[in-house]
Amino acid sequence: MIGFIGAGSIGGAVITGLIKNGFDADQITVKGGRSNRAQLLEDQLGFKIVKKVKQLEDAEVIFIAVGANALDSVLSELKEIAADKLIVAFTGSASISVLKQGLGEVKVAHAIPNTPVKVGAGFTGITYSSDFTAADKKKVASIMGYTGQIVEVPEDQLGILGTVAGCSPAFLDVFIEALSDAGVKHGLNRQLAYEAAIGMAIGAGKLAKQSELNVSALKDEVTSPGGSTIKGVAALEENGFRNAVIKAVDAAEE
Ligand SMILES: NC(=O)c1ccc[n+]([C@@H]2O[C@H](COP(=O)([O-])OP(=O)(O)OC[C@H]3O[C@@H](n4cnc5c(N)ncnc54)[C@H](OP(=O)(O)O)[C@@H]3O)[C@@H](O)[C@H]2O)c1
Repeated sequence: MIGFIGAGSIGGAVITGLIKNGFDADQITVKGGRSNRAQLLEDQLGFKIVKKVKQLEDAEVIFIAVGANALDSVLSELKEIAADKLIVAFTGSASISVLKQGLGEVKVAHAIPNTPVKVGAGFTGITYSSDFTAADKKKVASIMGYTGQIVEVPEDQLGILGTVAGCSPAFLDVFIEALSDAGVKHGLNRQLAYEAAIGMAIGAGKLAKQSELNVSALKDEVTSPGGSTIKGVAALEENGFRNAVIKAVDAAEE
């Protein structure tokens, strides 16, 4: 059994990704917040809902998916039942030391998933406390594996990894929207323009992942001398595309 405290944007996305990709809904218990968000999700997915944190006592692994403002009160409730469990927090401010301070000597991890977890194509960076055994890590990774890729990183890299993988779906959405605007400007209908831009993003990502070539070489492959693609690449550079992306990450990191 696994438990969730909070089923908002990221908690809901992870729960959805788990169940839609084969994790047994009967093995998931959720303690929601004050609104009916958890209940609405339960109506679609069929997990169990409880009203109090201590009702998660049968869970082997508990995921904390509340915002920073609710973390302290959640940790003080969770402390009563946390002793033999693995606790994984998605909350941005839930560093290993904050979690240990709130829960005592309990095995804790800080993870930053991104929203594609919802469709099983997520990327989650995770840092474990030093008392996590290899078997503990395997247990958490096998659960999160239903939602996509999970990568262990040192804690000082978790923030930037979370920005590169977690804020960038919104950056890519802006790129896709702009690309489809350009398609419409040049005569495509809106639906076809979106289909083409989204299909391209999925395909180019897959190719970049599966190819032996790095992305720079993949770009070189499709830029023939004097051709239209290199002219487009030059226009991107002229308009500061690369710098705009780096500045977007800088801004998100601040
Ligand atoms: N969104 C992302 O892509 C993302 C990715 C990685 C990490 N994070 C981090 O994850 C945290 C949550 O972000 P979010 O975007 O999911 O926020 P969110 O949509 O506001 O969800 C937080 C949820 O926590 C619930 N909650 C609050 N107090 C609770 C309590 N005492 N017991 C149980 N549930 C409680 C709230 O329920 P009610 O609304 O019903 O009160 C709400 O649905 C943040 O620290 C964020 O930085 C977010």
